[in-house]
Amino acid sequence: MQYRQLGRTGLRVSVFGLGTNAFGGRADEATSIALIHHALEHGVNLIDTSNRSPATPTMTELSETIMGRALRGRRDQAIIATKCGKKTGNGPNDANCSRWHILQEVERSLRRLQTDHIDLYQIHWFDPTTPLEETLRAFDDLVRAGKVRYVGCSNYTAWQLCKALWTSDRHGLARYDSVQPAYSPADRRIEPELIPLCLDQGVGVLVYYPLAGGILTGKYRPGSEPPQGSRARTQPGFAAQLNARNLALAVEMERLAADVGATVAQLTLAWVMRRPGITSALVGATTLAQQEENLRAVDLPLSEGTLRRITELSDPFVAF
Ligand SMILES: NC(=O)c1ccc[n+]([C@@H]2O[C@H](COP(=O)([O-])OP(=O)(O)OC[C@H]3O[C@@H](n4cnc5c(N)ncnc54)[C@H](OP(=O)(O)O)[C@@H]3O)[C@@H](O)[C@H]2O)c1
Repeated sequence: MQYRQLGRTGLRVSVFGLGTNAFGGRADEATSIALIHHALEHGVNLIDTSNRSPATPTMTELSETIMGRALRGRRDQAIIATKCGKKTGNGPNDANCSRWHILQEVERSLRRLQTDHIDLYQIHWFDPTTPLEETLRAFDDLVRAGKVRYVGCSNYTAWQLCKALWTSDRHGLARYDSVQPAYSPADRRIEPELIPLCLDQGVGVLVYYPLAGGILTGKYRPGSEPPQGSRARTQPGFAAQLNARNLALAVEMERLAADVGATVAQLTLAWVMRRPGITSALVGATTLAQQEENLRAVDLPLSEGTLRRITELSDPFVAF
């Protein structure tokens, strides 16, 4: 495994992070626990979740609860990254990034995770209805109370992160040391603004959806039905992402993967992990075989020419 500093902090996180939003939904509890243990055994230390994953109709248990059970006796091996700020109930304050909601949700997450601290607590989205200073002050209090070690944000644009950094700086509050956006060869929208900001300000970038939800594994083919058991069958709404543009990219990636003796998933992840500014790719899986395959991307030798070819193939995906 390779490790990188999380932005300007002294924390070292694995370049391959475990994404858990299938846990308790598309992956049952036994499989999810096996995937967590397997990842830890392969040197993965970063495990990402949220207080409402998996948000699917097939949900049996929150992934935080499963993580708590999986990490009994192994807590020190993991950097637990979780999130709050999205809707968790029907009450007027069961959503958003208010102090009230954050302080309520952190206690619930700690209980489910069976731990006394969260290593990286991330706000799930930019909430325009709550003053940013209120959110940052609540996070700062959690850091000072020892319940949270580092704080970060997710789904922020560059201007939103820039505003958050200057707000923390102005008020002497703990600042966001990481941001979590979507990123893959099929979605490079963060490259023009967010990545340069993070490089300049020393903010870590943990990317989700690095396989475009599974499209960049080659499992979906133009003109064919999605395979049985795949996310396009088990998660309502996902099949809409199987559009001609994404599927054509997957076909091109498959040709390139065959040339270098790798799988499409490995080629995709190896490229993502080597892109400028990327700290870690948060990779989801529903089987051990998928995770075995994906982990091999960390040490996959790729020539500059192959990396450049993937960049060229995916250049149209810098903008949508
Ligand atoms: N911050 C946010 O708002 C946000 C949003 C989404 C996700 N996330 C985080 O990012 C993580 C990763 O996102 P993600 O899991 O949605 O997307 P992803 O990593 O791009 O896709 C993972 C999915 O692709 C399929 N897959 C993975 N490896 C495969 C392989 N080798 N061969 C065939 N299929 C394979 C599996 O689905 P099937 O087997 O079901 O097809 C797996 O669940 C999440 O788990 C979560 O921690 C954060």
